[in-house]
Amino acid sequence: MNSLNLKYNVSLKEKHTFGLEASAEAFVKIQNVSQIKTALQLPYKSKMVLGGGSNVVFTQDYLGLVMELDIKGIQVEKEYKNSIHLKVGGGENWHQTVLWTLRNNYGGLENLSLIPGKVGASPIQNIGAYGVELKDIFIKLKALEKSTGKVKTFFQKDCQFGYRDSFFKNKGKGKYIILEVYFSLTKNNHKLNTAYGAIKSELAKKKIENPTIQDISKAVIKIRRSKLPDPKKIGNAGSFFKNPIISKTKFKTIHKKFPKLVHYPAPNGKVKLAAGWLIDRCNWKGKSIGGIMVHPKQALVLTNQGKGEAKDLQKMIKKIITSVKKKYDVSLEAEVNLV
Ligand code: EPU
Repeated sequence: MNSLNLKYNVSLKEKHTFGLEASAEAFVKIQNVSQIKTALQLPYKSKMVLGGGSNVVFTQDYLGLVMELDIKGIQVEKEYKNSIHLKVGGGENWHQTVLWTLRNNYGGLENLSLIPGKVGASPIQNIGAYGVELKDIFIKLKALEKSTGKVKTFFQKDCQFGYRDSFFKNKGKGKYIILEVYFSLTKNNHKLNTAYGAIKSELAKKKIENPTIQDISKAVIKIRRSKLPDPKKIGNAGSFFKNPIISKTKFKTIHKKFPKLVHYPAPNGKVKLAAGWLIDRCNWKGKSIGGIMVHPKQALVLTNQGKGEAKDLQKMIKKIITSVKKKYDVSLEAEVNLV
């Protein structure tokens, strides 16, 4: 099917998990490559691709065409003695894909359970949680180049993965539409990642000594549910800010003043700080501006209490950034994409 079901003046409130009121001048659901090509020919100046809407916040009406990617399919592409290559359509829901792999006992995605969004968005910010990042199981992806309409293959090195970062957030920003992603998963001898403190204690609580990948997924789901609000109930976009990465010298200065500073080693001798800790120590937990609230259980998450407005969100972002800068001399950056 090549024809498009174009709609006009469509509300985006239900299309992004933060749930602010905004509308799109035009909106279309895309199910295959030929539909993308047709949509790209339409005479709108701005066009954007929307995945699950869990990492984008619409703060104003979108003047242009919003293309919601809905390319489906989960398929074992190659099978080896100990592993498989899985091909997944960009429009598949991330968590449903993780559950599919667990039902088939393929290992590798279990720590990434319950992350909202779609598979096509997962490489853009190299999603990660509880000691695993997408890049650890990623083989390649296929993406359509908007300017030429050609489908290109990107391997690990082409994607330039970093912490919540990739080529698609930098040089490749806005230039490609991710169609399908390929993962390398284990069939047996699964490599378990249980080092993360919260997972360890969750397994210990249940007295599980030799966890399966399904046990790990269950533990991750439990931890996430206990700290992170369910976007179906309370509008949110997961971690709102990135954990800042600073130089060792700067870290030493701050650490001297604040010995409890939560920090992790980062590549190239740098240090990563926990943004949630910094925001928490500036007393933001549970605070509101209008209908926007800092989640009482996790300061890194901002929520829309129902009737939240963009102006209040903007105010909140500014105030949080200013207070962390003032107290710790660290600049926070949004992890979500503000449109
Ligand atoms: N902390 C506080 N107060 C808070 C929040 C956190 O003191 O309000 C402290 C925690 O006690 C902990 C540290 O800060 O010592 C880090 O917190 P946590 O382990 O909850 O993880 P995070 O750094 O806040 C990151 C990811 C999450 C991911 C978790 C688990 C980013 C921006 N966020 O959060 O990803 O689920 O680690 O791996 O990297 C997302 O990207 O949307 C997301 C939820």
